[in-house]
Amino acid sequence: MSKNDLSRKKFLTAASGKIPESMHKIDRRQFLKQTSAGSALLFTSKYFSQSVSTDSQVEIIIDEPIETISPDIYGHFTEHIGGVIYDGIWVGENSSIPNIGGIRKELVDYMKRLKPSVVRWPGGCFADSYNWRDGIGPREQRPLRPNFWINNRFSQKAPDGPTKYDSNHFGTHEFVHFCRLIGAEPYIAVNVRSATPKDFYEWVDYCNAPAGTTTLAMERETNGSVKPFNVRYWGVGNESWGCGGDFTPEEYAMEFRRFTSWVPNFGQNLALIPAGPSGGDTSWTSKFFTKLTERRRQYLNRVYGWALHYYCGTSGKGQATDFTDEDYYELIVKANRMETLINQHWSAMGEVDKNHRVKLIVDEWGAWHRAGSEVHPTHLFGQTSTMRDALIAALTLDTFNRNADKVIMSNVAQLINCLHSLFLASEDRFIVTPNYYVFDMYSAHQSGQSLKTVFSTPEINITRRGRTEQLWGLNGSASLHEKKLVLTVVNPSLDKSRNTEIIVHGAKIKSGEAKTLSEADVRLHNSFNNPNAVFPKENIINIKRGSLVYTSPPASVVRLIFELA
Ligand code: AHR
Repeated sequence: MSKNDLSRKKFLTAASGKIPESMHKIDRRQFLKQTSAGSALLFTSKYFSQSVSTDSQVEIIIDEPIETISPDIYGHFTEHIGGVIYDGIWVGENSSIPNIGGIRKELVDYMKRLKPSVVRWPGGCFADSYNWRDGIGPREQRPLRPNFWINNRFSQKAPDGPTKYDSNHFGTHEFVHFCRLIGAEPYIAVNVRSATPKDFYEWVDYCNAPAGTTTLAMERETNGSVKPFNVRYWGVGNESWGCGGDFTPEEYAMEFRRFTSWVPNFGQNLALIPAGPSGGDTSWTSKFFTKLTERRRQYLNRVYGWALHYYCGTSGKGQATDFTDEDYYELIVKANRMETLINQHWSAMGEVDKNHRVKLIVDEWGAWHRAGSEVHPTHLFGQTSTMRDALIAALTLDTFNRNADKVIMSNVAQLINCLHSLFLASEDRFIVTPNYYVFDMYSAHQSGQSLKTVFSTPEINITRRGRTEQLWGLNGSASLHEKKLVLTVVNPSLDKSRNTEIIVHGAKIKSGEAKTLSEADVRLHNSFNNPNAVFPKENIINIKRGSLVYTSPPASVVRLIFELA
């Protein structure tokens, strides 16, 4: 057992045991001894100081890489629902709101900074009632169709408009244009419930056939795009256990086989994504894979990734911006369930896919709150996100980073004016939510090597549904990018700061920078009247000889970037 292994074992024991908080206070001299292979830094700033006693440790183990963090983990989801497309993304070419070919310019400018990698569209449940032909050709000639969500109670009360009667002004060309503007790959969900495999093949043909080769390629050219769109990611249905057709897993596996028996690929390595389970429904996973492969195991090769959906919400009376401390902790605990879900579905998949050829795609995730905080009466599910949601985003992205060997894509639901959104907009008003800042901070992880990271910190006592429980005191993820090390850390406690020693096994730190997103009140959020109520603060780090200690304030997200020697 190496020296690293020994010290790691010791810290792991500390992390899992129920040790009283006082015993976790670690003597600074002891720290210095333990960090011989690690860093020797001293931070002085509000969150970095020499004089604090420490109560936690984070160990980053350079020589234990997990897997490359797929940039697609930082993906997004946009559906024709409420105010996501109309009012959110699409304002129209003749709008007085600054736009690029009809697409809200401010959104494009912010999105470009995030390196957004991939965007899923047109749904969600909407996808299984969508006819892609409705959304091509001259806009004024496109048909008006009832939107899938028109029957929702919220929509029924809303004024008429494109969110009830879809104008189809935003179709395939507009979506691909949006993706190109922000530097993301398009991920299209096709209609399985109310369309045929032929419609799917023709959509692929329209998008991907080389210029002039097929009638649909020529139609694409007439509609303004000579060059193919080269769409690689195709979702075969959405939530096929529910709004996507009410299939049994066996029936859906047969549909998937039928839809994917032949797809024109035009030289593209198409990535076909079946509709996976909701939350912990491992029987959907097991039965799908069993049925898919009942005749030939090779059918596994048709599956690029298995699409899990998981939303967290609270059972209390609270809503998006007005909730109790118990509601807060309940949401944290529920979001934390993502790690268990990944592992459960991974083992269920492994029963059939022994070599784990197929990885997971979490193409809908986020917090889903009660209605009442929308910025416009047509914005179905258009909740306002607070600091609490920022913590949910951060701990979920950390979970994906830690599981980079299993998760290859994720799409937060949904980009703008909806659940867990990064932006809120209505007509000419536009703001970023605290979730945006988390994506901005965490984008530094993209394409890095996820590293084994051990958090040793006292658990916190929380009250949830009237009962006391324990929750981890700190968690996060780390990634290596040649000589750059990125560490992100979430402190969920509403009242405790964590003074944390950082130990890097296998490298020395030369310099570092820090960013902290934290507000005394987790209910704080940005609004059109107060757009900068929540934003991250940069921390100046003075590096001297000594130990590396940083402080995570209560309810905070911290990102540290180190330059390694
Ligand atoms: O994101 C909102 C809806 O939630 C999606 O349309 C659906 O797939 C899920 O149930």
